[in-house]
Amino acid sequence: MTENLDLSILLDSLRQGPLRLLEPLEQEIFCQRVKQYWGDVLRPLTLLYANHPEFDTWLGRFLHIAARAYAKRSPELRLLDFTRLNEPDWFQQSNMVGYVAYPERFSPDHTLNGIAGKIPYLKELGVTYFHLMPLLQPRLGQNDGGYAVMDYRQVKSELGTMADLAGLAGQLRQNDVSLCIDLVCNHTAKEHEWAQKAMAGDPVYQDYYLTFPDRTLPDQYEQTVREIFPEFKAGSFTYYEQMGRWVWTTFNEFQWDLNYSNPAVFAEMLDILLFLANQGVEVLRLDAVAFMWKRMGTDCENQPEAHAILQAFRALSRMAAPGLLLKAEAIVPPPQLVPYLGIGEATNKECEVAYHNVFMVMLWSSLAERKVALMTHALQKMPAIPSSTSWLTYIRCHDDIGWAVTEEDAAAVGLNGYLHRSFLSDFYSGRFEGTFARGATFQFNPKNNDRRISGSLASLAGLEIALEQEDEKAIDLAVRRVILLNAMILAFGGIPLLYMGDELGLLNDPSYLEDPNLANDNRWLHRPWMDWGAAAKRGDEAGVNGRIFQSIRRLIQARKQTCTLHARARTYPVWTHNERVFGLIRESARGRLLALGNFSEWGQAVPRHRLQEMGFGGELVERLNGRALDPYSDIYLEPYQALWLEKQM
Ligand code: GLC
Repeated sequence: MTENLDLSILLDSLRQGPLRLLEPLEQEIFCQRVKQYWGDVLRPLTLLYANHPEFDTWLGRFLHIAARAYAKRSPELRLLDFTRLNEPDWFQQSNMVGYVAYPERFSPDHTLNGIAGKIPYLKELGVTYFHLMPLLQPRLGQNDGGYAVMDYRQVKSELGTMADLAGLAGQLRQNDVSLCIDLVCNHTAKEHEWAQKAMAGDPVYQDYYLTFPDRTLPDQYEQTVREIFPEFKAGSFTYYEQMGRWVWTTFNEFQWDLNYSNPAVFAEMLDILLFLANQGVEVLRLDAVAFMWKRMGTDCENQPEAHAILQAFRALSRMAAPGLLLKAEAIVPPPQLVPYLGIGEATNKECEVAYHNVFMVMLWSSLAERKVALMTHALQKMPAIPSSTSWLTYIRCHDDIGWAVTEEDAAAVGLNGYLHRSFLSDFYSGRFEGTFARGATFQFNPKNNDRRISGSLASLAGLEIALEQEDEKAIDLAVRRVILLNAMILAFGGIPLLYMGDELGLLNDPSYLEDPNLANDNRWLHRPWMDWGAAAKRGDEAGVNGRIFQSIRRLIQARKQTCTLHARARTYPVWTHNERVFGLIRESARGRLLALGNFSEWGQAVPRHRLQEMGFGGELVERLNGRALDPYSDIYLEPYQALWLEKQM
């Protein structure tokens, strides 16, 4: 604790201040939580702001913000908090399945209210977690898919109101579906009130952003930072004539990076975070967290202070809204990624969930190569994650696929990293002869020849070309690929996320080209409008939509019934002695499961003795079709088939 700050005095000021209208028991609950999490609050905030002349005052302010949010939290949400505290592994259980959609593209009438009518559809699929893509008021015109927020306390006007959002969150909760939304905490739109005041010359608000009078510092920073959208703009800074200053803009010119070294920025974001939690949002996806702190001479990503900000958000939100989960969006290499779930002193004290980018990349790499050595090696090297956290597994998301294949991993399996990444870009953009995939190149960077990929799951897996060519065999193989990848993310461990339309095999959607605000960003190729006509055909397994939907639905049902797939179970890839068959063991006190996946269009076998070596001797049961397997024969996998094997109990 800082020298002058006395916790009991602080608690008294909370009781007499923001907590005063609450019953004594309710006041006491909050005070208990303050005592419980005080160390977790102090540790990161000391790193961030200890040198600030008014550090103690700021600490008091942060606690007041948390207390105020707690006092405003509805009885229903307080009850939810207790339910979550009583069952802290709720999001790690195998019944968890996520679905991600743009609200205006999913809702039949393009509003939040229209979404309620589709809850039965989500339930039919087995969804328990629903991520609605950016829905807070963005700037008009281009807004990076809503990631340039102008007002964090308003819902985008075309979608409805904050009350509609709270209503939808409640309806989802009654159906056992948790709502997740984005909180863009690294930057605001340049039209945000703070940015506007900064632009008008207000020094208080200029200190909310990172602005520079000339190019001296920007030039130095640019020696070491990455360019994220090289096709959209060069460099990480933008000059504004009106202000006569350069502003740090990591992403687009209209997205201004916030200055978290100013505690006022932390306080504002904390307040917004808790405001959104009080609308009934259960999971906040914290966008672009890797970039929240800058340090000269580094790439200005994944700095210790960026972690400290998240840890402080977590500890303070645990006081006000302990049911809330924080999800880190950090698409960075494994050694930098795992700390977002907390390491060292902060184990289990940062975000609860984070995207497993490497697994996603490796799935596509294996599919192109028809070999699983690189995936097995890269995943074997992944550090373990803390016990009360979980991965988000996904086949693809609203963003592009960047080929996160390191030189070391490639070399370890006899590949050249650069050439392999080029091969993958060629393969998925359609340049590689004989490819089954149809995708597009996103953000070619001539400085390093980096090419990322856009495209929907089905199109990248071959369905678009196959349908065009009316090639039944190719259609069958494409559908099998889609199902295989789903079986993999459902078995890996963590919350699997299905991206809207992928459950029906929706293809690339070029309609974005007609919208001038979207046309320059081909990520919209794989952010389609929901095709409710295709969804209406989901019962018909003779058609492609129905075959994919029902297969995924059955996979989800199987996952829910397989408690071995709990996120706490250890996940480790194994060599199957067949370079085309990926093997993954899930292991815990709940039992052991071996997931196998054939990443080729040819039938494959895994020798029985190999299974015995891995501790899967004797009679096995296959969870995806309930079949028992005799203890002697080799395991045979059809083209692109996945199997989930467990020992007969
Ligand atoms: C995240 C989002 C991406 C967006 C970027 C800037 O990476 O997923 O869509 O462009 O942040 O906000």
